Amino acid sequence: MSFYKSFVRPILFLFPIERVHNFMLAALRVVGDTIVGEWLLGKIYTFRHPSLEREVFGVRFRNPIGAAAGLDRDARLYRQFGALGFGFVEIGSITPKPQQGNIRPRLFRVPGKRALIHHMGEPNCGIERAIEHIRRRAHGRKVVVGANIAPNEHFLQENTTKEYLRTFRNLYQYVEYFTVNVNALMPQSDHYTEEHRATIETMLEALFDFRRGQNDYRPILLKISPDWSTRQIDDMVGILIDTPLDGLVVSDSSATPGNILTPKQQSRMSGGVLSGAPLLERTIELVRYVCSKMDYSYPVIGVGGVMSTQDAQRLLDAGASLVQCFSAMVYEGPAFPGRVCRQLAAPAIAQERAQKRAK
Ligand SMILES: Cc1cc2nc3c(=O)[nH]c(=O)nc-3n(C[C@H](O)[C@H](O)[C@H](O)COP(=O)(O)O)c2cc1C
Repeated sequence: MSFYKSFVRPILFLFPIERVHNFMLAALRVVGDTIVGEWLLGKIYTFRHPSLEREVFGVRFRNPIGAAAGLDRDARLYRQFGALGFGFVEIGSITPKPQQGNIRPRLFRVPGKRALIHHMGEPNCGIERAIEHIRRRAHGRKVVVGANIAPNEHFLQENTTKEYLRTFRNLYQYVEYFTVNVNALMPQSDHYTEEHRATIETMLEALFDFRRGQNDYRPILLKISPDWSTRQIDDMVGILIDTPLDGLVVSDSSATPGNILTPKQQSRMSGGVLSGAPLLERTIELVRYVCSKMDYSYPVIGVGGVMSTQDAQRLLDAGASLVQCFSAMVYEGPAFPGRVCRQLAAPAIAQERAQKRAK
């Protein structure tokens, strides 16, 4: 048992999760906000090894473990998360204007299942503040930063493309890749029609158009929900194959986690979605499905239920090029990304040692 799980977590779990989450993020911000603090965090937590490095959609990653969208929603902490050992951080979801999200409480733990239930409503500081935060300490940034973009709540349907384009255009020079969150454009599966696919394609085409006019190329990925029907998922894979879309993020929190919750938890869940361990099998199944559908020819970021090195390895084996996590930071603590990296690199390190001994 780690120090975090034996001593820190039992105390943190006595308090409401969002208060703890905000406190931990504030502490992390203070500790890692200077060059010395960031260096110290890196010394304690980061693990580097050449076997972990990889190039995916044209971007160089020092390791395949990333912080999922929602962890650094205001782009204030990506350097600190990098120092904790993450190879990349997906900021956001960022919307054009700031928004408060839903009223609290809106985030709950389900410790028995190592899960979280939330109906956050994507609170974030909006593009302008996010850019200020990114620019403040852009110099010498080592961690890859992606931006997850979404429209503001209550946006007008006819403004869909404008909503995404505005965030995309403004953040273009500040991040290394984009993830387009289309949850707000997707109806429940039985209401899904060709028109929804067309709306998504039109919006993406505007992003591609803007990108064609730029000197630097920014990969664009689309985030898939585990709650979509096979038809919806197949359509998104079709868009990936037919357009210059660069990859998929598979998948997301789920509104249908099966019968794993008690009636009380179910009632908290109304309007909410579930993250954490119960998602893993569905995520693996989905990663395998989309990868085989597109013949393993486009990159996939696997996310949902990764709580251990073995879970991350299973997603990589299923076809993911990179892996992200959110809930593991709550249940496993800040050493999680570094620990996963160390364990992922262990076979390569053992091989190196054996080769040295043989010489
Ligand atoms: C509190 C919370 C907030 C989240 N916010 C976002 C978000 O703003 N945008 C998004 O695309 N995903 C968001 N997610 C989903 C995560 O990025 C991730 O896909 C999901 O939690 C599954 O990963 P996990 O099982 O490792 O937690 C959020 C998840 C949680 C728990």
